[in-house]
Amino acid sequence: MTVRVLINPTNRELEAEVGDILLDRMREEGVHIEALCGGKGFCGKCRVILERGRVEKRSTTPDKLLSEEELSAGYHLACMVRLVEDCEFTIPAESRVDSPKILMNASLELPERSPAASKHLLASPGGPAGSPLLAYRRLSLRDYQGTAPRVSDQVYEALNRMREGEVTVTVSRTSGYPEVIMAEPGDARNRCVGLAMDIGTTTIVSVLADLSTGRVLGTASGMNKQITYGEDLVTRVAVARNEEGLRKLQRAAVSAINEVLGRLYSDTGLSPGEVVDVAVGGNTVMNHLFAGLESGYLEIANVEVPREPIIVKAGAVGLDVNPEAYVYCLPNVSRYLGGDAVGDVVASGMHRSGEMSLMIDLGTNGEIVFGNDKWLFSCSCASGPAFEGEGVRHGMRAAVGGIDHVWIDPETKEARFSTIGDAPAKGICGSGLIDLVAELFRAGVMDFSGKFVASAPYVREGKWGMEYLVVPAERTSIGKDIVLTQGDLDYVIDSKAAACGAVTVLMKKLRIGINDVRHVYLAGAFGTYTDMRNATTLGIFPKFPNAEYHPIGNGSLSGAYATLVSVEKRREAADVARKMVYVDLLVDVEFIEEYSKALYVPGAKEYFPA
Ligand code: FES
Repeated sequence: MTVRVLINPTNRELEAEVGDILLDRMREEGVHIEALCGGKGFCGKCRVILERGRVEKRSTTPDKLLSEEELSAGYHLACMVRLVEDCEFTIPAESRVDSPKILMNASLELPERSPAASKHLLASPGGPAGSPLLAYRRLSLRDYQGTAPRVSDQVYEALNRMREGEVTVTVSRTSGYPEVIMAEPGDARNRCVGLAMDIGTTTIVSVLADLSTGRVLGTASGMNKQITYGEDLVTRVAVARNEEGLRKLQRAAVSAINEVLGRLYSDTGLSPGEVVDVAVGGNTVMNHLFAGLESGYLEIANVEVPREPIIVKAGAVGLDVNPEAYVYCLPNVSRYLGGDAVGDVVASGMHRSGEMSLMIDLGTNGEIVFGNDKWLFSCSCASGPAFEGEGVRHGMRAAVGGIDHVWIDPETKEARFSTIGDAPAKGICGSGLIDLVAELFRAGVMDFSGKFVASAPYVREGKWGMEYLVVPAERTSIGKDIVLTQGDLDYVIDSKAAACGAVTVLMKKLRIGINDVRHVYLAGAFGTYTDMRNATTLGIFPKFPNAEYHPIGNGSLSGAYATLVSVEKRREAADVARKMVYVDLLVDVEFIEEYSKALYVPGAKEYFPA
């Protein structure tokens, strides 16, 4: 039997079968809601308020994630709601997936260009009668040097139909052997367009660029729709264990990308058929899921991951560009160090410098690379989503209303703060959380072991144990006090210890000290929005007294752009992936030692001299 479900505040009506789980139907219909644990009933993020109708619960155990007042106000967890009749729900502010602040800034310039796709005129127009088609389908092309490209049946037939006038063909070198992927009438050499994308776990950023000039024609971004299947990579790989799950995740990613592309086409006046090459920066799991590749093996610790780039035809994955265009994904190194990190390295240029450099990209998963022009040494760490504002009670992604910076009055210990968009506070995002904890330490509200000082002002006993009042309810948009609990604090300290331990364990293995590092490249949102003084006060990574610090923005997008407009950069990316030594910290005993030392603020004296 079919029931109708109305979802506020978007006023979306869904149809469902009796017995369906609300979160599943919302996912299928593209209704966004926070779902950190992917529907397992662990995170308590997928809150909905039942306004009308009756529901059953799959389990009542996760109700402990809701307070008594919330339960009596009709709060439910969408992943636990079994639909039995027509009903109406509201998604409360804290569970809505608002448009996040997406990191768009990236280096999108490259003086030397040699794109993998290029357009050429046929040397003698007019089909077989004019003899452009030589024996064995060899084409005679103007301004083309190198191995004669192969011609598919489809293109050959198209060429045979173009008997009049000039003919332009697009040659792609992405697959390793040149191939004519498109033929069009007339001289179309001035329109050769490519797409560079950063496919992140949370967001997608796309750039259309003119392949012959490198000029950016348009940029757009959006949310990765896979988010409703779980925010972290482990949950998504688990969903993709069976074919149906993999298909859903692949479709969700491509549908989100195609929506972003739709906006780009309407902004630029370009059409999908004009986009003849695609380069992608994504982590290992995203690359697999986007390409529809089996990803179950990524659940195995220390498993070997192919270091060749994943290459597919756009038509095969349903991407809304020319279906014959090749999609090149920057090569992965390991299961948790993917093409996005290789893109960071290529964008930073550390692999071409004789000086010792460190690249740090901290999100839910942290990537750390030390090296120079001779060697690269890397690891990844489960820094957890704290640095992206998730995993703590009042954490949120960087979006309007997110507290992004915090200062604590050294006398009164009261928190002052700013929010994204100057909106009433809704939660604390990653940069705000780092500020908050560093300032609590500086102000003496938190001790060096990460525990609240019970006698400090604004520290009190709350529902979840000791907590610090950040914003009183009347100044928030969620009608509740925004607090940082001792549990949150423990989580942040654990995250920072994982990140710092990952950096110092590599330093120990490489026998390098804090004075040896000359450049620190900070990639991603962490490197762009975080106050670095607070990051080192907290001890997320050591202080490097001789280093220059370089925020590189969205390095994954810069890497994708560079490899879109230059095959030379693709060679560099291949070289980076091939020569990078990867240390799996899950099976590294020294890491536990370094991690334990980093559980104190800021950390061991050798890395944080007074
Ligand atoms: S509790 Fe429902 S998605 Fe986590």
